[in-house]
Amino acid sequence: MYNLGIIDQINQKGIEILKNNKNFKFEIITDLSKNNLLKKLPTFDGITLRRGVLDQEILSKCKKLKVISRHGVGYDNVDTNFLKKNNIKLLITDSSTSTSPAEHIMFMILSIYKGINMFDNMVREGNFANAIHLKINENFELFGKNILIIGFGRIGKKLIKKCLGFDLKVNVYDPYVEENLIKSYGGVKVTDLNDALAKVDIVSLSVPRNDETHNLITIKEMKIMKKNSIIINVSRGGIINEIDLNEALNNKVIFYAGIDVFEKEPPEKNNPLILNKRVLLSPHAATFTKECLENMSIETVTNLIDFFEKKIDNSKIVKL
Ligand SMILES: NC(=O)c1ccc[n+]([C@@H]2O[C@H](COP(=O)([O-])OP(=O)(O)OC[C@H]3O[C@@H](n4cnc5c(N)ncnc54)[C@H](O)[C@@H]3O)[C@@H](O)[C@H]2O)c1
Repeated sequence: MYNLGIIDQINQKGIEILKNNKNFKFEIITDLSKNNLLKKLPTFDGITLRRGVLDQEILSKCKKLKVISRHGVGYDNVDTNFLKKNNIKLLITDSSTSTSPAEHIMFMILSIYKGINMFDNMVREGNFANAIHLKINENFELFGKNILIIGFGRIGKKLIKKCLGFDLKVNVYDPYVEENLIKSYGGVKVTDLNDALAKVDIVSLSVPRNDETHNLITIKEMKIMKKNSIIINVSRGGIINEIDLNEALNNKVIFYAGIDVFEKEPPEKNNPLILNKRVLLSPHAATFTKECLENMSIETVTNLIDFFEKKIDNSKIVKL
């Protein structure tokens, strides 16, 4: 019988699958402190991982560990060098984790473009009739605007369909994806990031966080962007430099931002973006829909079981 650790809570649907499988026993770990992980993890053959950081110190204590099944697709919270060296497999939920984030990006774009929070407040505060006197300079149509999708993987490919449905012109920056593939989805491949930033109205990030993408967008890049442009980040904190973004918004270098992810999560109370009225915020919640969380939980657990039953699909295994 394999001993599994469920690191951080996951939806009950996945837990039910484990309860009904006699080949596995499991323990749910909700205390994600380093001390607790150091104490608990060495007993497990396999783990699921949602939040929680698995560094070299913790992993080196896990002598039995053969596999980590991520609840999600990003794995910047795991020391992948250690996994590679020690032949510990890393699995991701590649099927269930892109629909909701792509919808979340579209929602943020629409919410900002239509000023929906402002209107909602007006009605609640008894200002319904005053809406007609507003100078509407900061609400826009999407029709015919240009979007730049940075990162054309699972999320980027779902997002492009929604963008085309709203008559946006779609530019894609992803050095690792062929021009023909982007064209077949209805987008235009761009190779010079700065040139593209200068031309578009909306920028959306759907890239992994790594050495190449950390600080991909700083004040330098935002100064290239149009003054009325908006930027959306549901990928990972630190891909847009937070201090620079705050400065850019305060100095009207760009118009607005939609931010789901932070360099440090949860963000400090004094993180300037939290006080900035030009940012639409959500708490790393792009996957927080009933369907997505259920499906991610089922996929996370199924991946783990499939691994031990030697029937795991290769597409789920990260090539480290
Ligand atoms: N906020 C959330 O809840 C949430 C949910 C899902 C995913 N994410 C994040 O979004 C990221 C993207 O998810 P995905 O499923 O689309 O991943 P993916 O691996 O399918 O796609 C990522 C794409 O980024 C491209 N890319 C890599 N480096 C790049 C660079 N320097 N410039 C431009 N493109 C580059 C890759 O070629 C790839 O096509 C994940 O790595 C994860 O960190 C966040």
